Amino acid sequence: MDMDSFLKAIPKVSLHLHLMGSVQARTAVELCNKHNVPLPDYEEPEDLYDYPDIYKFLHMYDNTALGIIDREDFERICYETLTEAAEHNVRYREMFFNPTTHMAAGVDYETCVDGLIDGINAARTDHGIECRLIAAANRMESPELAVEMVETLIDHPREEVIGIGMDYAEAEYPPERFWKAYRMAERAGLHLKDAPPRNIETCLDLLNCERVDHGYHVVESEAIMRRCRDEGVVFTCTPVSTAWVYFNDDFDNHPIGQMREFGIKISLDCDDPPMFKTDPTGLHHGPQPHGLRGGGLPPVHAQRHRRLLARRAREAHDAPPVGPRI
Ligand code: ADE
Ligand code: ZN
Repeated sequence: MDMDSFLKAIPKVSLHLHLMGSVQARTAVELCNKHNVPLPDYEEPEDLYDYPDIYKFLHMYDNTALGIIDREDFERICYETLTEAAEHNVRYREMFFNPTTHMAAGVDYETCVDGLIDGINAARTDHGIECRLIAAANRMESPELAVEMVETLIDHPREEVIGIGMDYAEAEYPPERFWKAYRMAERAGLHLKDAPPRNIETCLDLLNCERVDHGYHVVESEAIMRRCRDEGVVFTCTPVSTAWVYFNDDFDNHPIGQMREFGIKISLDCDDPPMFKTDPTGLHHGPQPHGLRGGGLPPVHAQRHRRLLARRAREAHDAPPVGPRI
């Protein structure tokens, strides 16, 4: 068996993946067309999934969400991503979804969650994969909206929805703003996760999180690294997406390497597979930070770089002459 087939066949868990970022570009186009949602210009649907930073990425992410309206849309995107995961022998996934994003687009919570549960059930029947949902608050929105989200979960309990987390841009939206939503969710017996921009201890001690998403700034404090290692705190890390939008594609200096060398528990995942052109197998043999390196760029990345360069060259050719830089 060659290395790729071997890595593909290894049973995997997937603990850090955002539903909306898992929508295939072609599906996003079809569903946006179905609901008359405008999209930016593109030649191939995949061109839509190209962004220089987290904010442009989130813009596309929200654009995609506007096209997911009906219960069967939610079922479809959930089933598609779980089918792809099962092809890589992912046996269990916990997947973020964003109730307040969909509710702001006029979708009621039950339509969204029950569509997702339909997708989970169909994928289990067809592929044997199991999935649970984590409702993620948009940390760029108000703490009050996060509280409303938790109230919604409590009013509509579903056994598939097992916890809360937070997503969207971390840097300027620290976790302590959301203590109330976390207290409420904890009292309701939900699991708690967060991706703190810096202070890991705020997330562990104030929000009482059981698991840390990303958490790369842990490397800034040896004391906190020691604590996390000794307490066995699990970090869910996504090397490809974070190298792309935060670390300038520099896998060698990505903090995951240091975390791993220190002995911190890490679970790797894709974040948003089609949106960052990664998959559960590629994670384990693509260019990886320190010591996890397995060889050259995996084919999807080599392809992305070629497409990107070709597009930049085309844009440069077509661009009007620029004036002096100031
Ligand atoms: N989806 C929503 N927020 C995200 C983030 N900060 N990184 C990757 N995917 C996301
Ligand atoms: Zn993420």
